[in-house]
Amino acid sequence: MKIVEVTSDNRELIKKIYQNEIDSFGLMGGADMWMIMSFVRYGKLYVLLDDLGKLLSVAQYQAILGKNAVFLYGFSTPESERGKGYGKKLLELTHEALKKSGIEKIYLTVDPKNVPAISMYEKAGYKIKELQEDEYGPGIHRYLMVKIF
Ligand SMILES: CC(C)(COP(=O)(O)OP(=O)(O)OC[C@H]1O[C@@H](n2cnc3c(N)ncnc32)[C@H](O)[C@@H]1OP(=O)(O)O)[C@@H](O)C(=O)NCCC(=O)NCCS
Repeated sequence: MKIVEVTSDNRELIKKIYQNEIDSFGLMGGADMWMIMSFVRYGKLYVLLDDLGKLLSVAQYQAILGKNAVFLYGFSTPESERGKGYGKKLLELTHEALKKSGIEKIYLTVDPKNVPAISMYEKAGYKIKELQEDEYGPGIHRYLMVKIF
């Protein structure tokens, strides 16, 4: 198993990431190809792969202008690989990489009903900062969570 920072020339991997977005999030909330390329070129896109190159988990970070902070736009593990510790592992490894590059804070938003994700983030040191009501449309609330290194 290894962590890979995705680069723009790795089109096979980018295709797998795009397919996983559709499988994991459907039409709402997932990243399209425009967003994926933006994370690759102007943010950070990390994946956990097994020894044969199978996708085990994906983390997409956006830079926050003027701050030593990032926004974790998307985080997902393909359905067949969930509950095996891969999300936790990728989160830990990306935290190490971001910290080394001078990042001090990570923000994210999560559906207040998404118990697995909230549990994973809390175990990784994120705290709920506020409830953002109707953040992504009427009735689509989110918790804003933050991790400070
Ligand atoms: C949330 C998600 C990324 C977790 O990834 P994963 O690889 O399955 O997670 P792990 O196996 O590494 O588990 C890490 C922790 O998550 C929590 N967790 C994972 N699955 C869970 C479940 N079914 N119920 C409750 N908690 C769960 C636990 O706290 C777990 O820690 P533990 O192993 O000490 O119990 C995955 O369920 C997913 O991709 N969901 C759909 C997309 C999504 O909701 N992404 C988050 C958007 S903010």
